[in-house]
Amino acid sequence: MVNVLFVCLGNICRSPTAQGVFERTVADAGLSSQIAVDSAGTTDWHVDEAPDPRAIRAARGRGIDLSRQRGRQVQASDFERFDYILAMDRENLRTLQRLCPSRHQHKLRLFLHYAPHLGLTDVPDPYYGGPQGFDDVLNLVEAASAGLLADIRSNHLRSNVDSPEKR
Ligand code: 4NP
Repeated sequence: MVNVLFVCLGNICRSPTAQGVFERTVADAGLSSQIAVDSAGTTDWHVDEAPDPRAIRAARGRGIDLSRQRGRQVQASDFERFDYILAMDRENLRTLQRLCPSRHQHKLRLFLHYAPHLGLTDVPDPYYGGPQGFDDVLNLVEAASAGLLADIRSNHLRSNVDSPEKR
């Protein structure tokens, strides 16, 4: 099993959206039994809360249900448990870098690392803006999800690829 954790500030807007989108990306690829997806916040501000209604509405517009997710804060065991720990922006990456033991630092990355063609580092925080911000989040997250799945395939799921030496 490959374990993926998305991390933002509150775990009610960006990282739940990333979780929902990437779960669908994985399901569409037929890989749900091999890749597990979760999300968390660097703060405890919205623990046990459902995602922001605006995030739920925007995702529903693309056929993705976020409503059953609940907010949680990053905990020490996450650095052991997850193989990919992906921050939605540089501020949250810095927070993770402060919390994470050195032996697990290699797991930390910006999520948009997997969409280099965008030329962006951060998924902008939509919390204080209008509904368009949530659609922008979905667009960025969809782009990076494709790149992330490609990375997982090439680094972890190679045995499933029909390689020449096996023929
Ligand atoms: P998120 O957005 O980090 O994408 O979940 C935010 C949610 C809540 C707050 C800030 C950002 N807040 O200030 O409560």
